[in-house]
Amino acid sequence: MSATSPQKPVLPPDIRAMKGGAPVVVLTAYTTPMARLVDRHCDVALVGDSVGMVLHGMPSTLGVSMEMMILHGRAVMRGLERAMAVIDMPFGSYEEGPQQAFRNAARLIAGTGAPAVKLEGGARMAETIAFLTARGVPVMAHVGLTPQAVNTAGGYRVVGRGDEGEQVLADARAVEAAGAFAVVLEKVPEGLAGRVTAALSIPTIGIGAGAACDGQVLVVDDMLGMFTDFRPKFVRRYAELGQAADAAIAQYAADVRARRFPAPEHAFADAPPARPAG
Ligand code: KIV
Repeated sequence: MSATSPQKPVLPPDIRAMKGGAPVVVLTAYTTPMARLVDRHCDVALVGDSVGMVLHGMPSTLGVSMEMMILHGRAVMRGLERAMAVIDMPFGSYEEGPQQAFRNAARLIAGTGAPAVKLEGGARMAETIAFLTARGVPVMAHVGLTPQAVNTAGGYRVVGRGDEGEQVLADARAVEAAGAFAVVLEKVPEGLAGRVTAALSIPTIGIGAGAACDGQVLVVDDMLGMFTDFRPKFVRRYAELGQAADAAIAQYAADVRARRFPAPEHAFADAPPARPAG
């Protein structure tokens, strides 16, 4: 699959079939304009619950609601022609059990038109993933660091060093057996990510998990350098848009204060322009 292939929309079986082949390219998107850009180059646009922190200034993802995910999911869907949208299930929308998870996954899919959801958790979510996939809901799983568990984990630390690695492997195997079509591995050591990738028949999508994974995902605002103060080790910055925006806004403010903006070409004449003859 490549950015130049015909505009057949990507679906979960296409992503699953990329196991061991061309890397699966994933970025987050939360708005229509960003989805249009992601669509041109990526296989998957993840409407991550990171939207709460990135766009809404929340301190964690825990305050994100179903309504927010549906609103941003709809916006992203308007910008996609080829890439597949995956919508994150927010904290509190699926952990009670399979029925609650199905009800809310169906709301996300019906409310946005996206073909798949993502939820966090390994073996403990296997029953729920099996319930959803058996009822027509494709699930991308998410193991290793699971940001919705920040309070029980005590922070956003690397998960899976030493003996803990066996649990990450067991989690990944459990979500595969339950029917997930792919699994995000977040902030796990690269050797472990390689072992998990070799052990599974579904693609692993890494974020802070090294190069051995079947695909990679980043938060788009991180890789575009939208923040000056947030620089996780696992992010490569491909642009410094935050700095560029800061400079542009400073220039605008200076121009307005000095009455350099607007210029005559930005204003409308009192009389309408004459119509061309003929
Ligand atoms: O919410 C999100 O953006 C995510 C990615 C970091 C994988 O879950």
